[in-house]
Amino acid sequence: MKTINIGVIPGDGTGPEVIAEAMKVMNAAAAKFDFKVNPVMYDFGGERYMRTGETLPEGAINDLKQHDALLLGAIGHPDIKPGILEKGILLKMRFELDQYINLRPVRLYPGVECPIKGKGPAEIDYVVVRENTGGIYTGTGGISMEGTPNEVAVQSMVYSRFQVERCLRYAFDYAAKYGKKARGKGDKNTLALVGKTNVLTYAYGLWDRAFNEVGAADYADIKREYYHVDATCLYMVECPEMFDVVVTGNLFGDIITDLAAITQGGLGISAGGNINPDEGGVSMFEPIGGTAPKFTGLNQINPLAAICAGAMLLREQGQEAAADAIEGAVAKVTSEKLESMAAARMGYSTTEVGDMVADLVS
Ligand code: IPM
Ligand code: MN
Repeated sequence: MKTINIGVIPGDGTGPEVIAEAMKVMNAAAAKFDFKVNPVMYDFGGERYMRTGETLPEGAINDLKQHDALLLGAIGHPDIKPGILEKGILLKMRFELDQYINLRPVRLYPGVECPIKGKGPAEIDYVVVRENTGGIYTGTGGISMEGTPNEVAVQSMVYSRFQVERCLRYAFDYAAKYGKKARGKGDKNTLALVGKTNVLTYAYGLWDRAFNEVGAADYADIKREYYHVDATCLYMVECPEMFDVVVTGNLFGDIITDLAAITQGGLGISAGGNINPDEGGVSMFEPIGGTAPKFTGLNQINPLAAICAGAMLLREQGQEAAADAIEGAVAKVTSEKLESMAAARMGYSTTEVGDMVADLVS
């Protein structure tokens, strides 16, 4: 029987509660589809940092590399200055494990309330491929004369052709495999580049050239589109049905996927993957909601985002049927059971929602 070895980082706040439900559902799927999930737990996060002063301990990255995949709950602590845990844990894992893709499906599940009038599951059904290790996130730049009236800060958007091209190739391949035509939902697979070629002429000029060159040479049957990032925000609200697969740089991807998340029913249901698609690469899947300190320990947080992250993990590990079963079960629970996606308003507790999904998968 195939065993999937996963490293699990429940993290802070409500992270451990939602990860417990994700594990419950993954185990149900494993029993049903004849494989095994073997977890190793890690205590990285704000609590550990408060205790030990360490973000990621010596050797952690090497340990994480030994797994097939990673599942992350949430990392954050109200008493820790912004930037320390983000840079010391989350971004460090993304960079050191070379998880150069951030994959964020934007799917409105049936029965989930959409804040956009007149839009439903048929309209909100696309995927954002965000470049995840380059651009303005690299920390290239500096500050001089800090604290004086003359201080100067520079933070640069740095992209190499290599970084851009490997991200674009992943996005084209993804569009070929999971685009709307591939899923029987349209007559073509479309990849849209989102940039700002009218102002960021260097960085997005490079993206645009690579997009057209790679696309024309190797992906002739995928339709290519281009939109500026500001217009994209407008379209994501006005006509989200026009999107299929979207690819963009790190910062724009960060911003538009928060907007996308709210159109799919909020953070309670939004999941993402930090992916290293290379041979032997280790990817990390997470609910994108954060630690929700207000709800910690109350058994009221929505575990569906973490459960969907678990489904993404299994899909990436080749367990497509198990992933489909989990997503189908989630759709049944959102359409027939839950009153809301919001914490404390679901009509069920965190553990009850996990139980319902696990039962449907079994
Ligand atoms: C995300 C988050 C992170 C990011 C933060 C926590 C560093 O917002 O995963 O989208 O900016 O990438
Ligand atoms: Mn973000």
